[in-house]
Amino acid sequence: MADPTVSTTTLAVVTFCIGCIVSTSAVFPEETTGPRHNQEPASTVDYTLEVRANKPIHVTNERFLSITVDVGTLNKNWGNFSFGSSKLKTLTSALSPAYLRLGGTAADYLVFKRHCDDEVTTGQVDLFSQRPLTFLCPEDWDGINNFCSDTGLKLIFGLNQLLRTDDGQWDPTNAKQLLDYNTYDDVAWELGNEPNSYLKKANVSISGQQIGRDFNVLRSILQSRPQYSGASLFGPDIGGITKRAKVKSMLAGFLSTTNATNATTFHSYYLNGRTATVDDFLNPETLDSLLPVKIRTVTSQVRKYHGKDAKVWLGESGSALGGGAPNISDRYVAGFLFLDKLGMCAKMGLDVMIRQSYYGGSYTMLDLVSLEPKPDYWSAYIYKYLVGPKVLQVKLDTISYDNDGGGPAQSETDKQYLRVYAHCTATGKSGYRAGAVTLIILNMNKVNWANITLLRKLSGRRVDQYLLTPREHMDMSSSQVNLNGHPFQLVNDTTLPQLEPLAIGRDDPILIPPLSYGFYVIKVKTKACM
Ligand SMILES: *[C@@H]1O[C@H](CO)[C@@H](O)[C@H](O)[C@H]1NC(C)=O
Ligand SMILES: *[C@@H]1O[C@H](CO)[C@@H](O)[C@H](O)[C@H]1NC(C)=O
Ligand SMILES: *[C@@H]1O[C@H](CO)[C@@H](O)[C@H](O)[C@H]1NC(C)=O
Ligand SMILES: *[C@@H]1O[C@H](CO)[C@@H](O)[C@H](O)[C@H]1NC(C)=O
Ligand SMILES: *[C@@H]1O[C@H](CO)[C@@H](O)[C@H](O)[C@H]1NC(C)=O
Ligand SMILES: *[C@@H]1O[C@H](CO)[C@@H](O)[C@H](O)[C@H]1NC(C)=O
Ligand SMILES: *[C@@H]1O[C@H](CO)[C@@H](O)[C@H](O)[C@H]1NC(C)=O
Repeated sequence: MADPTVSTTTLAVVTFCIGCIVSTSAVFPEETTGPRHNQEPASTVDYTLEVRANKPIHVTNERFLSITVDVGTLNKNWGNFSFGSSKLKTLTSALSPAYLRLGGTAADYLVFKRHCDDEVTTGQVDLFSQRPLTFLCPEDWDGINNFCSDTGLKLIFGLNQLLRTDDGQWDPTNAKQLLDYNTYDDVAWELGNEPNSYLKKANVSISGQQIGRDFNVLRSILQSRPQYSGASLFGPDIGGITKRAKVKSMLAGFLSTTNATNATTFHSYYLNGRTATVDDFLNPETLDSLLPVKIRTVTSQVRKYHGKDAKVWLGESGSALGGGAPNISDRYVAGFLFLDKLGMCAKMGLDVMIRQSYYGGSYTMLDLVSLEPKPDYWSAYIYKYLVGPKVLQVKLDTISYDNDGGGPAQSETDKQYLRVYAHCTATGKSGYRAGAVTLIILNMNKVNWANITLLRKLSGRRVDQYLLTPREHMDMSSSQVNLNGHPFQLVNDTTLPQLEPLAIGRDDPILIPPLSYGFYVIKVKTKACM
């Protein structure tokens, strides 16, 4: 305790606890109510961490973190997603640059109407007997496009692939009507949503090769119109990627038939919204068992058919499918899945990750009525400030003590519970100098603090902490967050909160409470980030 730097560490811990309420309704109350002597963590797992600082392992798209609104929202007349709302514009502008994808299951039941009172003219309504059609009117199109230009987002719109001719080809008639109507520059396109489920959804079976041919048709239509000659096209938005041969061969068929896309997209969800529990959200197996396998599967196929530089997107992804897990997917605990996914996708070489959903369902990032931000909105907000496109390799180790040291036994699984991703710090809005490194850190341990000692290039540097904790102490179901111990919320409809870091002393370790996550900026000049 003679070390003068210890006081700074203590300060960090004390500040975290200002305003802490030990709630009896906390999800894990029994593990957190014990006294903390001298404000020191009751028990820790100790780690060392270094990054490979000479060159990035990957560089993502500048719109890496992007958002989706399910086009089914049109059936609710956009709910309370009001394009004119200054609160919505304020919140959305803060996420720019990003794509806003309007897509989802309803995209394949959507018909554009040149005039809102027109009769449906597709002649294919029989295809859709199982689901109601969704109509897109000119005012919807103008509304969402003006909203995107006001907020600096780029629209991706999913065209209906289930409009088909009698001989089994995509029928582009309705798509052409929309292309004719559209006057906005820079709209990007998709065609179809989760074609692996067409049989189940619409009793039609379309092969991967045929989907590829449909994309070639769309690309040649775009290319034939000067307004769209450089347009971006993404697809096939395939879901169900596992080791299952059928879906893999559908993707292979698609990739071998078309080069019309600018990126290959797939979808992934961790859990089933109807059955998922808070504990599932806190289980590292949830993070490690499926997504990395899917990323590897898709990436290796894309490289095989389109070369090693071809881009892969996680084109739609939420915590739990079927609209999310009620009262879990929009709470503090969802941040573990969201931030880990962002970290993992970037580390594994993906170009863009589109979050389902910005507005809608139980995984909404904004309250469906008030548009008040949910915890994942705040994670995205901070991510946009602090996390740049260059990804760095992280080396994380647990410190093992010999018996004489008397320390706790530590196992490999400790590494699974502490999850760290490193990027070059975004320099634009944040004001940090080039060279700085941002760590995204998640401590999924339910009892132990993580005590991280930075090594080599990162050691002895100033570190800024941006720790997010639930508003009510340890309440994983909290709808609100604290930043470094203080409530983090909108100032008013036009003003977002300032990001106030907490400085950690040069030689102090990073101490992260159990069940919390945050961002740490290390003020260093790494070659990779200059
Ligand atoms: C939108 O807000 C109104 C109140 O302003 C509410 O009655 C309505 O249910 C909301 N719609 C949705 C989809 O949340
Ligand atoms: C599905 O389509 C097939 C023909 O392709 C038809 O025989 C069958 O009745 C359809 N099933 C349903 C549930 O509509
Ligand atoms: C997308 O692909 C089209 C057609 O190949 C091309 O003209 C356009 O430049 C590409 N867009 C980007 C951003 O690479
Ligand atoms: C797509 O591009 C790759 C790489 O340039 C090429 O090998 C392949 O033949 C192309 N496929 C098609 C269907 O054009
Ligand atoms: C979610 O929380 C709300 C409000 O607390 C409650 O009315 C609703 O029943 C909950 N839903 C589920 C599925 O637990
Ligand atoms: C953190 O780990 C370092 C290095 O092992 C150790 O010196 C320090 O005492 C630990 N701090 C706490 C609070 O456990
Ligand atoms: C919102 O807060 C900012 C900063 O405090 C202030 O300048 C602005 O006038 C406020 N706007 C409204 C509408 O209250």
